[in-house]
Amino acid sequence: MSLKPAVIAGIGSYVPERVLSNEDLEQIVDTTDEWIVSHTGIKERRIASDDQATSDLAIEASRAALEDAGMSADDLDFVLCPTVTPDHLFPSTANLVQAGLGAHNDMAAFDLLSGCTGFVYGLHVARQFIATGEMEAVLVVASEKLTSITDWTDRSTCVLFGDGAGAAIVTAGEGEPSEKGLIGFVVESYGEHGHLLDVPAGGSRRPLDAEGLANHENCLHMNGPEVFKLAVRGVPEVAEKAIARAGMTNSDIDWVIMHQANLRIIDAAARRLDIPDERMIVNVQKFGNTSGASTAIALDEAYRDGRLQPGDNILLVGFGAGFSLGAGVLRWGL
Ligand code: ACO
Repeated sequence: MSLKPAVIAGIGSYVPERVLSNEDLEQIVDTTDEWIVSHTGIKERRIASDDQATSDLAIEASRAALEDAGMSADDLDFVLCPTVTPDHLFPSTANLVQAGLGAHNDMAAFDLLSGCTGFVYGLHVARQFIATGEMEAVLVVASEKLTSITDWTDRSTCVLFGDGAGAAIVTAGEGEPSEKGLIGFVVESYGEHGHLLDVPAGGSRRPLDAEGLANHENCLHMNGPEVFKLAVRGVPEVAEKAIARAGMTNSDIDWVIMHQANLRIIDAAARRLDIPDERMIVNVQKFGNTSGASTAIALDEAYRDGRLQPGDNILLVGFGAGFSLGAGVLRWGL
């Protein structure tokens, strides 16, 4: 079977209007702007309103991506929604996005739970359906309302996260799959480290009860220093594998977009990969960690401000809950 190139036909993103600054957080927990900036690089993040759920953010980003692609929701064959903060456990957020976009029913729709690697994992999955010719258009929309699982009494985590969504429409291109669109992807799982970053209660292992609620076990818990060590080691390794799978070397990469979790992790990984600062796309200062949506939001920002040029090779790298790791090289806009 000959495979088709999977290309990005359009992208879009959405972040809520409300800004939560480090100074605002100083009023909530015992922290300082100086600590947050020096340990994470984050200055501010966006917070969804009480009546905005993850699917609402996803629908806004999806509409922007459809408009960018010049397509309608009825052109889609599949809505794939990477998220760790679904509106409900079920129905899936992807089902809600399909309905919210007013799309037809003759399509697949499901969520994908791979933490902060969400957008990268999502592109990799979409690519399979497009490459084989099974589908013609897949909407990958990574969306998170992380502030809905944030423990606002835990200063070691509540300063890190923000809300937002990023979407891409993946379609089939002409020519060689090794030369266009989503070229080389690698996804990995380190389940043995899953306990380092979790929501302890609310699942079948530990249904939420009054004690769990009192201990904020329905919120995100993280062993920050251990996650930091894993990320600094794993991100360059998976990035190098994806670059090799794309048949390239580091010097062929024009732009790098890593999961926007922490500027120190991004800087350390860039040094290990020998990528100069001017080739790094970074916006963690403005949006904090938006989990699976972060790479998509940064990609959209760089596209819309004119940094990305046709033919540019872009490396996306994700790491997060699972523990999941993933990286992919895409050639922009050919
Ligand atoms: N303000 C002030 N002090 C703080 C804060 C805060 N917000 N948070 C922690 N501290 C204190 C701690 O209490 C500790 O004090 P102590 O020494 O008196 O006990 C001190 O700062 C150092 O704490 P550490 O946790 O060791 O701080 P570290 O330098 O490791 O930074 C951080 C913490 C930023 C969380 C870092 O570990 C990190 O970035 N880890 C990776 C997190 C990450 O990337 N997660 C995302 C991946 S997955 C996903 O995106 C969902």
